[in-house]
Amino acid sequence: MFDDVAPKYDVVNDVLSMGQTRRWRKIVVEAMDVKTGQRVLDLAAGTGTSSEPYADAGIDVIACDFSLGMLKVGKRRRPDIDFIAGDATRLPFADNTFDASTISFGLRNVNEPKKALAEMLRVTKPGGKLVIAEFSQPVVPLWRTMYTEYLMRALPAIAVKVASNPDAYVYLAESIRAWPDQDHLAAWLQESGWDKVTYRNLTGGIVAVHRAVKPGPESGPAAGAAALAAHTGPVAKLRRNIIRPAR
Ligand SMILES: C[S@@+](CC[C@H](N)C(=O)[O-])C[C@H]1O[C@@H](n2cnc3c(N)ncnc32)[C@H](O)[C@@H]1O
Repeated sequence: MFDDVAPKYDVVNDVLSMGQTRRWRKIVVEAMDVKTGQRVLDLAAGTGTSSEPYADAGIDVIACDFSLGMLKVGKRRRPDIDFIAGDATRLPFADNTFDASTISFGLRNVNEPKKALAEMLRVTKPGGKLVIAEFSQPVVPLWRTMYTEYLMRALPAIAVKVASNPDAYVYLAESIRAWPDQDHLAAWLQESGWDKVTYRNLTGGIVAVHRAVKPGPESGPAAGAAALAAHTGPVAKLRRNIIRPAR
């Protein structure tokens, strides 16, 4: 499916999000807060739009995705970025390779997202950061109703006019509705062994940016032990440990 949407992927995203994707992406880069000389994994990078800000800042970014169609469009557009074919659930990288890992609007598409969270933990260095941008659940009921109407009615209708494969956008709407909410994803992160899990809602919760740290030198041994304990604990208990943002 991603091979089919690749040629017009970025333009269609801009239209359907009414330009919001640019702002969301800027916030992700700020949350990553990486410096020159560090190595970043951008997983499910698609055409590399989410990788570009790092490359532009002189950061060593690897754009990894399993769709050859997306990678091909990306490589044509940005030959200077390293595009690598790889499955999020079996990453082709050694343990502790990256200073930070990120995945934008991709985790929802991975068949086994918890496996991808574990794989990102494996390839990130101890003390390294993870930032996830993903569609989520609007927090105010009226806004949630309006957004659901847009997703289920307006979006497929607009997609018929602007997209090469409108069915992909019906899938998009359905997959967003089926995706776990902010707290649930935060609990998955803790269950996968990530530490210091926080999130921030964007555009009223249409998108959430989750942040976490791999237990290690920078998060301290106590944090590592807590994450290990949390790994076997019930989700309800984990939720109490999640730091929620001011909305
Ligand atoms: C909506 S696109 C996001 C692309 C990019 N990160 C962005 O922000 O524009 C989702 C991407 O996830 C990729 N994807 C889905 N499952 C994957 C998997 N198991 N391993 C690697 N990539 C995957 C798809 O090929 C697609 O390119």
